[in-house]
Amino acid sequence: MCGIIGYVGDQSALDVALQGLRRLEYRGYDSSGIAVVGAGALRTARRAGKLANLEKLLAESPETDPMPGTTGMGHTRWATHGGPTDVNAHPHTDCTGALAVIHNGIIENFALLRAELEAGGHELTSETDTEVVAHLLEAELARVPGPVGVAGPASSADASHPLTGALRRVCRRLEGAFTLVVVHRDYPEVVVGARRNSPLVVGLGEGESFLASDVSAFIAHTREAMEIGQDQVVEARRDGVAVTDFEGQPVDNRRYHVDWDASAAEKGGYPYFMLKEINEQPTALADTLRGRLSADGAIVLDEERLSAQDFRDVDKVFIVACGTAYHAGLIAKYAVEHWTRLPCEVEMASEFRYRDPVLDRSTLVIAISQSGETLDTLMAVKHAREQKARVLAICNTNGSTIPRESDAVLYTRCGPEVGVASTKTFLGQVAACLLVGLFLAQVRGVLYGDEVAAYVERLQRMPELVRRTLGRLEPIRELARELADAKAVLFLGRHVGYPVALEGALKLKELAYMHAEGFPAGELKHGPIALIEPGLPVLVVVPSPRGRANLHGKIVSNIQEVRARGARTIVIAEDGDLAVEPYADHLIRVPETTSLFAPLVTTLPLQVFACELALARGLDVDQPRNLAKSVTVE
Ligand code: G6P
Repeated sequence: MCGIIGYVGDQSALDVALQGLRRLEYRGYDSSGIAVVGAGALRTARRAGKLANLEKLLAESPETDPMPGTTGMGHTRWATHGGPTDVNAHPHTDCTGALAVIHNGIIENFALLRAELEAGGHELTSETDTEVVAHLLEAELARVPGPVGVAGPASSADASHPLTGALRRVCRRLEGAFTLVVVHRDYPEVVVGARRNSPLVVGLGEGESFLASDVSAFIAHTREAMEIGQDQVVEARRDGVAVTDFEGQPVDNRRYHVDWDASAAEKGGYPYFMLKEINEQPTALADTLRGRLSADGAIVLDEERLSAQDFRDVDKVFIVACGTAYHAGLIAKYAVEHWTRLPCEVEMASEFRYRDPVLDRSTLVIAISQSGETLDTLMAVKHAREQKARVLAICNTNGSTIPRESDAVLYTRCGPEVGVASTKTFLGQVAACLLVGLFLAQVRGVLYGDEVAAYVERLQRMPELVRRTLGRLEPIRELARELADAKAVLFLGRHVGYPVALEGALKLKELAYMHAEGFPAGELKHGPIALIEPGLPVLVVVPSPRGRANLHGKIVSNIQEVRARGARTIVIAEDGDLAVEPYADHLIRVPETTSLFAPLVTTLPLQVFACELALARGLDVDQPRNLAKSVTVE
């Protein structure tokens, strides 16, 4: 949700910013803009729409280098306050045009601040909340002018760089969530950033420094990164960075090496990131499991910061997440309850946070988030920790906020995911949840060692089954193209097939802008069956005939019920399941698996179906309208 890159070094800041924005565009694509400080001037350029519009504007400039300078920043926007227009595009400048600000998040008290600024004679031109920061900084710099270390109010730390001190003082007045990056015409030696509840990481290069929403923005330049914590300000210079809290106290943050390189964030020959990421799923799954399944059949979660005793003390599990990650959590519930016999509730983070969930120190809260930055999930984590619950994050992004705010983290190792709709990280999340479920059962002694070992052995085979499934999905691609003009699709499932149905429907909504709903197949007769009309495609995720409680038989009846009313049935069933054949207008086969692992293969045809159908409709599957990959506002 808004992408940010800041740079100070020896390269053209314009080039670095443009390259970074290309990598960050998945975070929002309502507008983009750049500010560069050089040759005694601050230049800005901004345009509504995708980055291509800004690139076109710059290409049309009569000057060879329209924005000279080696200090600057870029922004790609997902609109909150103010529509996606040129005027609302970042960067925003102050009255004098000496400084520029970019922002990710929402400043909740902006109306009050704006009124105060306007009363003081400032002229604000946009509808954004961001613009107040530029003018507040202008006012602060006017109030506390002077060269480095000379002027400054009471706090000794504010006797640092004037721009840094001013930003600290402004941040103390802001409410809400924000990452801010600022450059100033008179201070080309620094780029200054700050964060509260929105992401900001530092890239530490040789003679250059970067500030960005995520490492992908600077990975082509350096793989050395530093986290920026909550309520901190960072002053970046060519030769390094200095970080303080909002009061000016120095802080020492964790540095880390990014274990993937620029090529991982490229399309690698695919026309869309999403297609590449779908095909990366066998590797994403294998990498997530790697080192966590021991040769003697146990689950090893070494990187945990919670002890085995902590896991033994748990008497209740809550899973909180949003979007696709929430669907991974729903699947986890079936596994956790079956294996551990602990009660397990799954809730959308935005709802969990604002009711009064009953939590205490024996509650384990599992927060699932690909980005580690989703604000609803972050707020749920904070709320849980305030109630003394233990929080385990399942996350794909090293250095992100949610793992840092949690007691422990289990990283999915899926590599960078750029397509806005999650695919490979969903599989990673499901796998991580299965690992946690088995680990809990193991340390609590609920499953015998040989039972865990049997699951471990089957889990080890899953990446290969995923690879084989991906190799046989041509029939669903053809069907998707055939259904490109359908008005709606229903998705049905039972047991773990139900969250898979929800995920299939979400993918279709996100990518193809088509009305799609997922239902538990047993719930069909309580309402959704009224939606069935001749020709309506109904996609059914069928449980294994070897599974529990004759769920298979029941879903075969459900398929017959919708077919009797004219639905066109698309049936996802495992190899050898002959009972479904008479009722399937289209039959998509997946390999046999253990019931609880089935989502790792049954999800794949649904991803491919949504992706192919959207492509057949001529849509951009990497950047669906109105969406952003990382949602850092509530
Ligand atoms: C957005 C994305 C979804 C994602 C959700 C949660 O809505 O478009 O694909 O599932 O956020 O994101 P997270 O990073 O917390 O997993």
